Amino acid sequence: MLLEIRDLDVGYGDIQVLWDVSIKIEEKQIVALVGSNGAGKSTLLRTISGLLSPYKGSIIFDGEDITNCPSKEIVARGIIHVPEGRRLFPDMSVEENLIMGAFRRKKSKDITPALDNVYELFPRLKERRNQKAGSLSGGEQQMCAIARGLMGDPRLIIIDEMSLGLAPLIVDNLIEIVKEINEQGTAVLLVEQDVQLALDNSHYGYVLSTGRLAMEGPSKELLQNKEIKEVYLGL
Ligand SMILES: Nc1ncnc2c1ncn2[C@@H]1O[C@H](COP(=O)(O)OP(=O)(O)O)[C@@H](O)[C@H]1O
Ligand SMILES: [Mg+2]
Repeated sequence: MLLEIRDLDVGYGDIQVLWDVSIKIEEKQIVALVGSNGAGKSTLLRTISGLLSPYKGSIIFDGEDITNCPSKEIVARGIIHVPEGRRLFPDMSVEENLIMGAFRRKKSKDITPALDNVYELFPRLKERRNQKAGSLSGGEQQMCAIARGLMGDPRLIIIDEMSLGLAPLIVDNLIEIVKEINEQGTAVLLVEQDVQLALDNSHYGYVLSTGRLAMEGPSKELLQNKEIKEVYLGL
């Protein structure tokens, strides 16, 4: 098991947001975490990334307890979070943004092979490498955010609301690249309000509903589930 989250309770101050959440991600899997706006998905991601401390429960990564590790160390171990809203440095060039991603992990290593690798996955970014990130389209900014995450050489990349605000064709293109990243050996946690998209493109899925896990299973089975069809897919 690459990541194992056990019985997590999390909140902000006294306001509890997650109850008893347990999730597993195997090496080389794409796992979907889906749920409506406000369900607690980003809160769970912030906890995995070390930005929030849980009230109780544990997070095991690659056999080691990382529950209260600082976020810097969690990144160094290979868990990289592509945040909701992309969070690029708008006045820096695409390439400068990508290089920032590398500094988070391999300070002393040559970053040229890593840049070559992400430019191969995202030729559009190569074309625009000298442009300011803030001048890119929404889809290109999302590419840049994912590529910056890859520069840190993740073992697990967590992508929060990748599809939000993007046109379907652009999302299709991004998801194909995510699958390619996964085929190259990186586990992916896809966190989405777009339940169809996430379950169509993952091996296993978890449904979070107001802070609790409501369902889990192989994504293909969840897509056939009557309750999921009614509540989340509008079928
Ligand atoms: N910084 C915060 N302080 C207090 N409550 C928060 C904070 N961030 C999020 N919340 C609350 O936690 C709940 C879950 O939010 P969030 O994790 O962002 O959900 P999701 O990502 O599934 O949309 C919401 O009720 C939200 O209002
Ligand atoms: Mg969120």
